[in-house]
Amino acid sequence: MTQADLIIIGAGPGGYETAARAVADGLKVVIIERDQPGGTCLNRGCIPTKTLFQSALTADTVCRAAEFGISCSAPAVDFPAVMRRKDEVVASLRQGVTAELKGAILIEGEARFNGNVVEVNGESYSAPRIVIATGSAPARLNIPGAELALDSDALLSTSELPESIIIIGGGVIGMEFASILNALGVKVTVLEYCREIVPALDAEVAKRLRMTLRKGGIEITTSASVTSINNVEGKLSVNFTEKGKEKSAEAAMVLMATGRRAVIPEGFREAGGEVDSRGFIVTADDYATSIPGVYAIGDVNGKCMLAHAATAQGMSLLGHEMNTEVIPSVVFTMPECAMVGLTEQQSLDRGLNIVTGKSTFRANGKAVASGETDGMVKIIADADSGLILGCHICGSHAADLIQEATIAIASGMTAEGLRSVVHPHPTLSEALYAAIP
Ligand code: NAI
Repeated sequence: MTQADLIIIGAGPGGYETAARAVADGLKVVIIERDQPGGTCLNRGCIPTKTLFQSALTADTVCRAAEFGISCSAPAVDFPAVMRRKDEVVASLRQGVTAELKGAILIEGEARFNGNVVEVNGESYSAPRIVIATGSAPARLNIPGAELALDSDALLSTSELPESIIIIGGGVIGMEFASILNALGVKVTVLEYCREIVPALDAEVAKRLRMTLRKGGIEITTSASVTSINNVEGKLSVNFTEKGKEKSAEAAMVLMATGRRAVIPEGFREAGGEVDSRGFIVTADDYATSIPGVYAIGDVNGKCMLAHAATAQGMSLLGHEMNTEVIPSVVFTMPECAMVGLTEQQSLDRGLNIVTGKSTFRANGKAVASGETDGMVKIIADADSGLILGCHICGSHAADLIQEATIAIASGMTAEGLRSVVHPHPTLSEALYAAIP
């Protein structure tokens, strides 16, 4: 039996960042990973999709070159080269993760619980604190023909671009792939169950995104419930109901992006670990599970399925001060979207008396000069206290712009307080400034 101060299962952004910090704090750390270090984020999520996003953005910029007075021929997509670059980026960042884990004992293998002892490769490990950071995997709808659809993992390792694709689910993953594939020349159709795409985004901003994506050539059907997938002479046919009417759409490929499920280590339930009705590990505010000394952070606890949320939970677990209440999230659509805090509807549902402010990218000098006029910023503030409650952005560089609003909300800034802060000209940050209510 090997004794450590801390055992971490899973080397994604929750696990490896927590391990690195715990080593810096002077703890003896064992981290167990069955696959490559880096988790979903590095190997099958954030990073590979962002390299594809950059290739897609480059193709889009070349297509629009004439708008900027530059003449060149239409871009040709060398898809194998696009995928090679993705693999190179992932491999180089993986080296960084491995280096970050220097000082921890990294064990390659599948961890399982035997009571509150962790077993891997026939060895037993024990520690006063064990952290489960095993993440999530794509979930499939339970419909006939579901196996005909790819999930995001499979799409990221495909070798050929399809001529057309139907994306089931207009959430974060669905809309990121929709934007990327559309810019790479694939005919994209999105079928979304809810009344609006990216349901977590403020409805007005999400509508703006939907209009922009439609204008860019993506076909989007909302209020569509997919019922089955069939193979019709080599083409895939997706059947769905839209407002009670039965419809179908055809494409060469189907992507299922309807959410993710928790990945739970073997033996956890048998050891007394509690799991909720959605299949996520039940944790208290301090991430403690129902097994004494065992904690769960990141996607696996279902609190907030974002890489940086997993890292923040790990830091908080180690006793480092983190504001895990204010978590920004970003969506790499074209244009980007980003959000932090409450939506207008959530504020109203809480009975808050609110004021909202909006600005458009069309009225922003830098956006017009850059040809990035499709965008808006919306800020929601409490009408009584002036406190900023939420910020939602759709537009170029939204992912970078959101951090200002995150700091404002996390530090309890009022609209008036933020308005007193000078914003540099000419920058997109002035669009955020102009939206202060
Ligand atoms: P999601 O929950 O964001 O979206 C799934 C969508 O599928 C929902 O809009 C849902 O209404 C729709 N849907 C469900 N059943 C359907 C049906 N029968 N027919 C049509 N539509 C249906 O899940 P997603 O996109 O798979 O992402 C999983 C998680 O990963 C999310 O929590 C997300 O936050 C995270 N993620 C974050 C990223 C980022 O921050 N940039 C990137 C990728 C994933």
